[in-house]
Amino acid sequence: GKVFEIAVIPGDGIGPEVVAEAVKVLNFVTNGGENEVNLTNYKLGAEHWLETGETLPEETLENLKKHDAILFGAVGAAPGDTRIPSGLIEREMLLKLRFSLDHYVNLRPSKLYPGIESPLANPGNIDFIVVREGTEGPYVGNGGSVRTGTPHEIATEVSVNTAFGVERVVRDAFARASRRERKHVTLVHKHNVLVHAGHLWRRTVEAVAKEFPEVTHDYLHVDAATIFLTTDPARFDVIVTDNLFGDILTDQAGAITGGIGLSASGNINMSRTYPSMFEPVHGSAPDIAGQQKADPTAAILSVALMLDHLGLSEESKAVEQAVEKEITSRQELTDRRTTSEIGDAIVALLA
Ligand code: NAD
Ligand code: IPM
Ligand code: MN
Repeated sequence: GKVFEIAVIPGDGIGPEVVAEAVKVLNFVTNGGENEVNLTNYKLGAEHWLETGETLPEETLENLKKHDAILFGAVGAAPGDTRIPSGLIEREMLLKLRFSLDHYVNLRPSKLYPGIESPLANPGNIDFIVVREGTEGPYVGNGGSVRTGTPHEIATEVSVNTAFGVERVVRDAFARASRRERKHVTLVHKHNVLVHAGHLWRRTVEAVAKEFPEVTHDYLHVDAATIFLTTDPARFDVIVTDNLFGDILTDQAGAITGGIGLSASGNINMSRTYPSMFEPVHGSAPDIAGQQKADPTAAILSVALMLDHLGLSEESKAVEQAVEKEITSRQELTDRRTTSEIGDAIVALLA
């Protein structure tokens, strides 16, 4: 057997609550098997910054690099919290991790599980993945502000798209599509306006598509993509898109599949030079933190993605199946399950 070293970053708000359930499930599903999972906790996030002034020290980053994978909850203060500048933790901790560990594939699956009510009247069979670029785009922090605070202020956020960065994520999307039933890739961008980056993405898709003759592809402008995500989400199989469009579309994807509390993600370094990081799509949800109201399913499904990435595909499937059963069993309940009750129910189904 192998020993897997997993770093755990619970973070802020509901982060620690949902991560506790994810860890419960991870421990249960790997316990007694031939492999061992060794967890190390890291305290990072907005609360940690308030206590220590640290965002992500170099030494912590180096220690995180030694792990096989990272399980992450969520970080961030409440939008109205003035004690901490908005964006500080997001940029200096979370995005620093995604960039430093070269998480170029931000994988975000969307599936409408049986028994889940979609806010859409006719959702159809929703089952697609979003392959969101994770290291470039408007997220790189390439910009600034001059004459700040004056009527003449000019602020820029320049999106960076490299041929190398776009090609590797587009190739990953096609490779994933080739392993799926429908084998279809949709590029989402806005090349009618963002002509520089947009045409790079478009040319790259055309070029990479030639390597995958079995995969079909089409294109949607991002505004139209939001229409079809509402009117006909079942049409999508694999969406490939840039960092910002992918962020926005995956919150919408979460909403149409019954809530952001079910949406898992992986920040994946496919070349495995650094550990990949698995986290719910949602944030720290300050509005419901500390009340056992958060749905831990997104965090638990992130564990399934992590297990799959580590080569533990049987354990991964077992977790996903238990989650699916738990979701179905919710229909018969009169009261909502609490955060830990959902974790317990999933563990019971695994047993
Ligand atoms: P959010 O995802 O935290 O919350 C949006 C809404 O979804 C809220 O009403 C919340 O209660 C609900 N929600 C979220 N997760 C839920 C769950 N598991 N179960 C039930 N309901 C859930 O987004 P926000 O309010 O825009 O951001 C709050 C903070 O989180 C901000 O500081 C933001 O920067 C940060 N954030 C962090 C991450 C991350 O760490 N990956 C992701 C998104 C936002
Ligand atoms: C997400 C979040 C992050 C993002 C923020 C908190 C940096 O919204 O993981 O979707 O924009 O990627
Ligand atoms: Mn987001």
